[in-house]
Amino acid sequence: MPEAPPDDEPALHVEGLDVTYGRALSALRSVSLTVPHGTVVALLGANGAGKTTLLRAVSGTLRLHRGAVTAGRIRYGATELDGRDPVTAVRAGVVQVPEGRRVFAGLTVDENLRSGGLGLGRRRPDQVAEARERVFTLFPRLAERTRQAAGLLSGGEQQMLAIGRALMAAPRLLLLDEPSLGLAPQMVHRIAEVVREINAQGTAVLLVEQNAGMALSLADTAHVLEVGEVRLSGPAGELARTDAVKRLYLGETTEEGTETAQRTGTTEGQGAA
Ligand SMILES: Nc1ncnc2c1ncn2[C@@H]1O[C@H](COP(=O)(O)OP(=O)(O)O)[C@@H](O)[C@H]1O
Ligand SMILES: [Mg+2]
Repeated sequence: MPEAPPDDEPALHVEGLDVTYGRALSALRSVSLTVPHGTVVALLGANGAGKTTLLRAVSGTLRLHRGAVTAGRIRYGATELDGRDPVTAVRAGVVQVPEGRRVFAGLTVDENLRSGGLGLGRRRPDQVAEARERVFTLFPRLAERTRQAAGLLSGGEQQMLAIGRALMAAPRLLLLDEPSLGLAPQMVHRIAEVVREINAQGTAVLLVEQNAGMALSLADTAHVLEVGEVRLSGPAGELARTDAVKRLYLGETTEEGTETAQRTGTTEGQGAA
Protein backbone atom coordinates (compact mmCIF):
# COMPACT_ATOMS: atom_id res chain seq x y z
CA MET A 1 0.00 0.00 0.00
CA PRO A 2 2.30 2.73 -1.25
CA GLU A 3 1.24 6.25 -0.30
CA ALA A 4 2.71 7.83 -3.40
CA PRO A 5 1.69 6.83 -6.92
CA PRO A 6 3.90 4.01 -8.19
CA ASP A 7 6.88 5.07 -10.23
CA ASP A 8 8.29 2.43 -12.58
CA GLU A 9 11.78 3.85 -12.83
CA PRO A 10 12.43 5.78 -9.65
CA ALA A 11 15.77 7.47 -9.09
CA LEU A 12 17.25 8.66 -5.83
CA HIS A 13 17.97 12.38 -5.80
CA VAL A 14 19.98 13.92 -2.98
CA GLU A 15 20.23 17.68 -3.37
CA GLY A 16 22.24 20.12 -1.28
CA LEU A 17 22.14 17.92 1.79
CA ASP A 18 23.46 19.21 5.12
CA VAL A 19 23.52 16.89 8.13
CA THR A 20 24.57 17.65 11.68
CA TYR A 21 24.87 15.48 14.76
CA GLY A 22 23.76 16.88 18.09
CA ARG A 23 23.38 20.47 16.80
CA ALA A 24 27.08 21.18 16.49
CA LEU A 25 28.94 18.58 14.47
CA SER A 26 28.53 19.15 10.75
CA ALA A 27 28.89 15.76 9.05
CA LEU A 28 27.69 16.57 5.51
CA ARG A 29 27.69 19.86 3.61
CA SER A 30 25.88 20.51 0.30
CA VAL A 31 26.01 16.90 -0.80
CA SER A 32 24.25 16.14 -4.07
CA LEU A 33 24.11 12.88 -5.94
CA THR A 34 21.74 10.80 -8.00
CA VAL A 35 21.26 7.05 -8.17
CA PRO A 36 19.38 6.35 -11.40
CA HIS A 37 17.07 3.36 -11.54
CA GLY A 38 18.90 0.07 -11.92
CA THR A 39 22.44 1.42 -11.57
CA VAL A 40 25.29 0.91 -9.11
CA VAL A 41 26.71 4.09 -7.61
CA ALA A 42 29.82 3.91 -5.44
CA LEU A 43 30.51 6.26 -2.58
CA LEU A 44 34.16 6.33 -1.59
CA GLY A 45 36.00 8.15 1.12
CA ALA A 46 38.24 7.82 4.13
CA ASN A 47 37.04 6.98 7.60
CA GLY A 48 34.85 9.76 8.98
CA ALA A 49 34.14 11.29 5.57
CA GLY A 50 30.38 10.99 6.06
CA LYS A 51 29.54 7.93 3.97
CA THR A 52 27.48 6.19 6.62
CA THR A 53 25.81 9.48 7.49
CA LEU A 54 24.59 9.84 3.91
CA LEU A 55 23.11 6.34 3.93
CA ARG A 56 21.42 7.04 7.27
CA ALA A 57 19.88 10.21 5.88
CA VAL A 58 18.48 8.32 2.89
CA SER A 59 17.16 5.40 4.94
CA GLY A 60 15.58 7.65 7.54
CA THR A 61 17.68 6.31 10.40
CA LEU A 62 19.63 9.48 11.20
CA ARG A 63 17.53 10.36 14.18
CA LEU A 64 18.38 7.05 15.85
CA HIS A 65 21.93 8.41 15.90
CA ARG A 66 21.00 11.93 17.03
CA GLY A 67 21.59 13.29 13.57
CA ALA A 68 19.38 15.64 11.60
CA VAL A 69 19.02 16.92 8.06
CA THR A 70 19.39 20.69 8.36
CA ALA A 71 19.18 21.57 4.66
CA GLY A 72 18.52 20.01 1.30
CA ARG A 73 16.19 17.37 -0.06
CA ILE A 74 16.10 13.64 -0.54
CA ARG A 75 13.63 12.20 -3.01
CA TYR A 76 13.12 8.67 -4.25
CA GLY A 77 10.85 8.77 -7.26
CA ALA A 78 7.72 10.57 -6.12
CA THR A 79 8.45 10.02 -2.43
CA GLU A 80 10.06 12.68 -0.27
CA LEU A 81 12.45 11.04 2.17
CA ASP A 82 13.01 13.72 4.73
CA GLY A 83 15.68 11.83 6.58
CA ARG A 84 13.62 11.07 9.64
CA ASP A 85 11.45 8.05 8.99
CA PRO A 86 12.69 4.53 8.17
CA VAL A 87 9.21 3.17 7.42
CA THR A 88 8.66 5.70 4.63
CA ALA A 89 11.95 4.67 3.05
CA VAL A 90 11.28 0.93 3.29
CA ARG A 91 7.79 1.34 1.85
CA ALA A 92 9.20 3.37 -1.01
CA GLY A 93 11.60 0.48 -1.72
CA VAL A 94 14.76 1.86 -0.13
CA VAL A 95 16.49 -0.49 2.31
CA GLN A 96 19.81 -0.14 4.11
CA VAL A 97 22.27 -2.86 5.11
CA PRO A 98 24.05 -1.23 8.07
CA GLU A 99 27.80 -1.36 8.46
CA GLY A 100 29.31 -4.04 10.67
CA ARG A 101 26.91 -6.78 9.42
CA ARG A 102 24.60 -6.41 12.37
CA VAL A 103 22.59 -9.62 12.50
CA PHE A 104 20.64 -10.80 15.52
CA ALA A 105 23.25 -13.22 16.85
CA GLY A 106 20.88 -15.10 19.15
CA LEU A 107 18.23 -15.62 16.49
CA THR A 108 18.34 -18.26 13.79
CA VAL A 109 19.07 -17.51 10.15
CA ASP A 110 15.39 -18.01 9.44
CA GLU A 111 14.29 -15.63 12.19
CA ASN A 112 16.76 -13.02 10.96
CA LEU A 113 15.33 -13.28 7.47
CA ARG A 114 11.79 -13.02 8.75
CA SER A 115 12.70 -9.79 10.53
CA GLY A 116 13.51 -8.28 7.11
CA GLY A 117 10.51 -6.57 5.65
CA LEU A 118 9.04 -5.64 9.00
CA GLY A 119 7.54 -2.20 8.60
CA LEU A 120 6.06 -3.14 5.27
CA GLY A 121 2.85 -4.23 6.94
CA ARG A 122 1.19 -7.46 6.05
CA ARG A 123 2.35 -8.87 2.74
CA ARG A 124 0.92 -11.67 0.65
CA PRO A 125 2.53 -15.02 1.50
CA ASP A 126 3.61 -15.50 -2.10
CA GLN A 127 5.48 -12.18 -2.01
CA VAL A 128 7.36 -13.28 1.09
CA ALA A 129 8.04 -16.73 -0.42
CA GLU A 130 9.38 -15.09 -3.57
CA ALA A 131 11.72 -12.89 -1.56
CA ARG A 132 12.97 -15.93 0.40
CA GLU A 133 13.52 -17.83 -2.81
CA ARG A 134 15.60 -14.97 -4.17
CA VAL A 135 17.74 -14.91 -1.01
CA PHE A 136 18.31 -18.67 -1.00
CA THR A 137 19.19 -18.68 -4.70
CA LEU A 138 21.77 -15.96 -4.11
CA PHE A 139 23.04 -17.51 -0.89
CA PRO A 140 22.66 -21.30 -0.95
CA ARG A 141 24.69 -21.51 2.28
CA LEU A 142 21.94 -19.71 4.12
CA ALA A 143 19.38 -22.18 2.83
CA GLU A 144 21.44 -24.97 4.40
CA ARG A 145 21.58 -23.19 7.75
CA THR A 146 18.10 -21.81 8.35
CA ARG A 147 17.95 -23.14 11.92
CA GLN A 148 21.46 -22.20 12.93
CA ALA A 149 22.04 -19.25 15.27
CA ALA A 150 23.30 -16.30 13.24
CA GLY A 151 26.06 -15.72 15.78
CA LEU A 152 27.65 -19.02 14.78
CA LEU A 153 28.02 -18.08 11.11
CA SER A 154 31.36 -16.93 9.69
CA GLY A 155 31.88 -13.22 9.06
CA GLY A 156 31.18 -13.63 5.37
CA GLU A 157 28.03 -15.63 6.02
CA GLN A 158 26.81 -12.98 8.46
CA GLN A 159 27.31 -10.32 5.78
CA MET A 160 25.29 -12.47 3.39
CA LEU A 161 22.58 -12.82 6.00
CA ALA A 162 22.53 -9.07 6.55
CA ILE A 163 22.13 -8.54 2.80
CA GLY A 164 19.57 -11.34 2.61
CA ARG A 165 17.52 -9.77 5.38
CA ALA A 166 17.45 -6.48 3.46
CA LEU A 167 16.39 -8.33 0.29
CA MET A 168 13.41 -9.77 2.19
CA ALA A 169 11.91 -6.27 1.94
CA ALA A 170 12.15 -6.52 -1.88
CA PRO A 171 14.06 -3.24 -2.24
CA ARG A 172 14.33 -1.34 -5.48
CA LEU A 173 17.28 0.57 -4.07
CA LEU A 174 19.72 -1.18 -1.73
CA LEU A 175 22.04 0.90 0.45
CA LEU A 176 25.14 -1.16 1.26
CA ASP A 177 27.53 0.10 3.91
CA GLU A 178 31.04 -1.37 3.59
CA PRO A 179 29.95 -4.94 2.86
CA SER A 180 33.54 -6.11 2.31
CA LEU A 181 35.03 -4.69 5.50
CA GLY A 182 37.13 -7.21 7.40
CA LEU A 183 36.45 -10.09 5.02
CA ALA A 184 39.02 -12.35 3.37
CA PRO A 185 39.80 -11.59 -0.31
CA GLN A 186 37.84 -14.58 -1.54
CA MET A 187 34.78 -13.45 0.36
CA VAL A 188 35.21 -9.88 -0.92
CA HIS A 189 35.14 -11.33 -4.42
CA ARG A 190 31.97 -13.25 -3.59
CA ILE A 191 30.30 -10.11 -2.19
CA ALA A 192 31.18 -8.26 -5.41
CA GLU A 193 29.52 -11.02 -7.45
CA VAL A 194 26.46 -10.82 -5.26
CA VAL A 195 26.17 -7.06 -5.72
CA ARG A 196 26.44 -7.54 -9.48
CA GLU A 197 23.76 -10.23 -9.40
CA ILE A 198 21.39 -8.16 -7.24
CA ASN A 199 21.83 -5.27 -9.65
CA ALA A 200 21.27 -7.50 -12.68
CA GLN A 201 17.92 -8.44 -11.13
CA GLY A 202 16.90 -4.79 -11.38
CA THR A 203 17.79 -3.42 -7.95
CA ALA A 204 19.79 -0.19 -7.83
CA VAL A 205 22.69 -0.13 -5.37
CA LEU A 206 24.33 2.73 -3.51
CA LEU A 207 27.57 1.08 -2.45
CA VAL A 208 29.73 2.56 0.30
CA GLU A 209 33.20 1.07 0.31
CA GLN A 210 36.72 1.68 1.50
CA ASN A 211 37.76 -1.03 -0.96
CA ALA A 212 37.77 1.39 -3.88
CA GLY A 213 39.07 -1.14 -6.38
CA MET A 214 36.16 -3.45 -5.73
CA ALA A 215 33.59 -0.64 -5.71
CA LEU A 216 34.87 1.02 -8.90
CA SER A 217 34.88 -2.31 -10.73
CA LEU A 218 31.17 -2.66 -10.00
CA ALA A 219 29.86 0.88 -10.22
CA ASP A 220 28.50 2.91 -13.10
CA THR A 221 29.31 6.19 -11.40
CA ALA A 222 31.22 7.08 -8.26
CA HIS A 223 31.60 9.95 -5.83
CA VAL A 224 34.42 10.66 -3.43
CA LEU A 225 33.44 12.23 -0.12
CA GLU A 226 36.02 14.18 1.81
CA VAL A 227 35.26 15.54 5.26
CA GLY A 228 31.56 15.83 4.52
CA GLU A 229 31.76 17.19 0.98
CA VAL A 230 31.72 15.60 -2.47
CA ARG A 231 35.18 16.24 -3.92
CA LEU A 232 35.10 14.14 -7.08
CA SER A 233 32.30 12.63 -9.14
CA GLY A 234 32.16 10.85 -12.44
CA PRO A 235 31.92 7.60 -14.34
CA ALA A 236 33.58 4.89 -12.24
CA GLY A 237 36.09 3.99 -14.95
CA GLU A 238 37.23 7.61 -15.26
CA LEU A 239 37.54 8.12 -11.52
CA ALA A 240 39.64 4.98 -11.25
CA ARG A 241 42.15 6.65 -13.58
CA THR A 242 42.43 9.96 -11.73
CA ASP A 243 45.64 10.51 -9.80
CA ALA A 244 43.86 11.43 -6.59
CA VAL A 245 41.80 8.26 -6.51
CA LYS A 246 44.74 6.10 -7.48
CA ARG A 247 46.89 7.60 -4.76
CA LEU A 248 44.36 7.77 -1.97
CA TYR A 249 42.06 4.86 -2.59
CA LEU A 250 43.70 2.36 -4.89
CA GLY A 251 46.84 1.94 -2.82
CA GLU A 252 49.24 3.45 -5.34
CA THR A 253 51.41 5.43 -2.96
CA THR A 254 53.43 8.41 -4.11
CA GLU A 255 56.72 9.58 -2.68
CA GLU A 256 55.14 11.64 0.08
CA GLY A 257 53.07 8.64 1.01
CA THR A 258 49.34 8.19 1.35
CA GLU A 259 49.01 9.79 4.75
CA THR A 260 50.48 13.11 3.70
CA ALA A 261 48.44 13.12 0.54
CA GLN A 262 45.31 12.47 2.52
CA ARG A 263 45.93 15.35 4.89
CA THR A 264 46.73 17.87 2.20
CA GLY A 265 43.62 16.82 0.33
CA THR A 266 42.93 15.92 -3.27
CA THR A 267 42.87 18.39 -6.09
CA GLU A 268 39.54 18.92 -7.68
CA GLY A 269 39.27 18.49 -11.40
CA GLN A 270 42.33 16.33 -11.87
CA GLY A 271 41.71 14.83 -15.26
CA ALA A 272 41.86 11.21 -16.21
CA ALA A 273 45.38 10.02 -16.85
N1 LIG B 1 26.07 9.21 16.09
C1 LIG B 1 26.99 10.16 15.90
N2 LIG B 1 27.10 11.21 16.74
C2 LIG B 1 28.02 12.17 16.54
N3 LIG B 1 28.86 12.21 15.51
C3 LIG B 1 28.81 11.20 14.63
C4 LIG B 1 27.88 10.12 14.77
N4 LIG B 1 28.05 9.27 13.75
C5 LIG B 1 29.05 9.79 13.00
N5 LIG B 1 29.52 10.93 13.52
C6 LIG B 1 30.57 11.80 12.96
O1 LIG B 1 30.18 12.23 11.67
C7 LIG B 1 31.30 12.21 10.77
C8 LIG B 1 30.99 11.27 9.63
O2 LIG B 1 30.92 9.93 10.12
P1 LIG B 1 30.46 8.71 9.24
O3 LIG B 1 29.28 9.10 8.44
O4 LIG B 1 30.32 7.55 10.15
O5 LIG B 1 31.73 8.54 8.27
P2 LIG B 1 32.18 7.29 7.39
O6 LIG B 1 31.05 6.34 7.28
O7 LIG B 1 32.56 7.91 6.07
O8 LIG B 1 33.36 6.69 8.09
C9 LIG B 1 32.51 11.81 11.61
O9 LIG B 1 33.13 12.98 12.05
C10 LIG B 1 31.88 11.05 12.77
O10 LIG B 1 32.69 11.14 13.91
MG1 LIG C 1 30.92 4.34 7.82
